[in-house]
Parts: sequence; structure tokens; C-alpha cells
Amino acid sequence: MNKTILKVSNLSKDYGKKRVVNNVSFEIKAGEIFGFLGANGAGKSTTIKMIAGLTSISEGNVLILSHSIKANFEQAIKEVGGMIETPTLYSYMSGYNNLKFFAKLHENISEQRITEVASLVGLSARIKDKVSTYSLGMKQRLGIAQALLHHPKLLILDEPTNGLDANGIKEIRMLLLQLAKKENIAILISSHILSEMENLCDTVAIINNGEIVEFKTMEEIKHSIAQNGSNYIKVNAPNYAGKLIEQYIGKKVVISGDKVIFSASDSKLAQIIVLLTQNKISVYGAGDIDYSLEDVFLSILNSHNASTAVS
Ligand SMILES: Nc1ncnc2c1ncn2[C@@H]1O[C@H](COP(=O)(O)OP(=O)(O)O)[C@@H](O)[C@H]1O
Ligand SMILES: [Mg+2]
Repeated sequence: MNKTILKVSNLSKDYGKKRVVNNVSFEIKAGEIFGFLGANGAGKSTTIKMIAGLTSISEGNVLILSHSIKANFEQAIKEVGGMIETPTLYSYMSGYNNLKFFAKLHENISEQRITEVASLVGLSARIKDKVSTYSLGMKQRLGIAQALLHHPKLLILDEPTNGLDANGIKEIRMLLLQLAKKENIAILISSHILSEMENLCDTVAIINNGEIVEFKTMEEIKHSIAQNGSNYIKVNAPNYAGKLIEQYIGKKVVISGDKVIFSASDSKLAQIIVLLTQNKISVYGAGDIDYSLEDVFLSILNSHNASTAVS
């Protein structure tokens, strides 16, 4: 069993009278990549800042390797490396000198460790060049190198792929997978774009209005896409057809223009077409609708917002 590195319990944050994070709890184990997913303003950065000791906790607690960030700040924070929002880098200095500068903030970081983290993030060849010549992706990787200097057990990255192109996102993904699997680091990463978490996170938590509304493993998300993969038929009387189909399959359908969207097996679909024809509805089209990760994310948020809407 992998060790629990981070344990967040009932964490809340109030700014004045406004509660922006409410009762958030989760755990991350060594070698696990945990994605924190939510729209802008959902409360990701505030939660992350509480975990990293950058803002006070209104309620709840954070344990890092069993050390409380409130009661035992120094011992807890020793185990954390973070890149929160954009990394602070000196662009007129080389990547190497930036790392050297940040190494001084910790005790006993050798030149060898500096070379090692540069190599871990794939910057060895460019480490002596000025940061002003780096691409955004290289700057993000240098920020991660900086966060890794003191051998943290927990790496916290707040939207590290923000603004990166597809290639830059892929580089960060490969790097994080390698850090988790080879170095057994626990990684907390936030994003407002679900597809950036694809093939990266073991688990995602979806945060909305300061609350976690859903935990899912990536496997579950992929499964629910497969499940939701729906059929549509095009008909001349969509409302009437929709009623007949609902009676037949016992589930709600969605009407969109002349399309009726529902989920049924191929053999049921064939029977539905017969049923509609018998009822003098003309069916002039049929097919599959493919759902993306983005659709699943939105449908989770929509169902949550619908269930909490004030009537
Ligand atoms: N220092 C602050 N003072 C007051 N409100 C804040 C402060 N920081 C963030 N907020 C509010 O808290 C909410 C969550 O913000 P944030 O955690 O930055 O969201 P995210 O990172 O998911 O975009 C937002 O409504 C934001 O306006
Ligand atoms: Mg943020």
C-alpha cells in the first residue's frame, strides 16, 4: 500500500462573509496524480494556497505526512514543493542561476542536485541559457525544477498548463507521469480544462462554487463516456416520437430540433424504428453521438447545479 502523503479534512475558507471554499476533503497517496478540476473562480487556487500554507485556513486541517500545516508548519512544509500561479523567475539570469538562487532558500542543496533537477525536467541542454530565451513551456518546466530542488514528497501545481500549446501540455504530462511513477511523488495539479487531465490523473475531483461535487477515477470518466455514447434519430414529429421512445426504453430522451437523442442498444434501436414507423412517423436519419470528456464534465456540473438550484 502506498503511503498517504496529503490528507485534507473539511477545509473551508471565508473571505469576509463570503465562503469561497466549503468543506473540502480528499487524500493523495505517494505516486498518485490527483487532478483538481473546476471553472475559473471555483476555488482551486484558494484551496491550494491553504494546503501550501500561503493563506490561512478558516476551518478544517491539512496533514502532510501526518504533520499539521497549522500546528507543525515547518515540518509539514518541508515536504512540499509548489508552483502556484506563474513561477517567479529572473529572466535576465540563466536557468541554472535561477535554480542556484532558489536553492539558497533551502538548506544543503548541492550543485549536483541542481544539475539533477534540470535533467529531470529535460532542460539540461538549455540550462545555461538566459530564461528570457525560453518558451513558456520551458519556463513552466524550470518552475517545476525549482519546486523539486529539496526532494519534496508532495508537488503542488496550480494550472501549470495554462497558456501552453498542445506540445507544451504533452511535455508537462510526460514529465509529471515520470515524476509520479519513478520518484513516487504525490502530485496535486489543478486545471480548468478537463482534456488537459486526460491520460495524466489517476483521480479527479470536480470543484464548483467552492465545493467538491464529484470524485472520479479517469477510468470512471472514460466509462461514463462509453455509457453515454448515445443514438439519435431524425423524424418528422420529434415530440411525439420522443414520447413513444420514452415509454419504450423507460428513460428520458432529449429533443433537439428534428432529432431525438437517447441511449439504446443497436437491437433496441431497430425495434424503435419499427415502432415509430407503425405509428406513422417517418424516420429519415439515425446515428451515434460521441460525447467528449468536456461534455461529461459539463453534464456533471449541470446535474449538480440543477439539483442545488433554489426553486
Ligand atoms: N484574496 C481574496 N479576497 C477575496 N476573495 C477572493 C480572494 N481570492 C480569491 N477570492 C474569491 O474566491 C473565489 C475562488 O477563487 P480562486 O480560488 O482563485 O478560484 P480558481 O483558482 O478556481 O479560479 C472567487 O470568487 C474569488 O473571487
Ligand atoms: Mg486559480
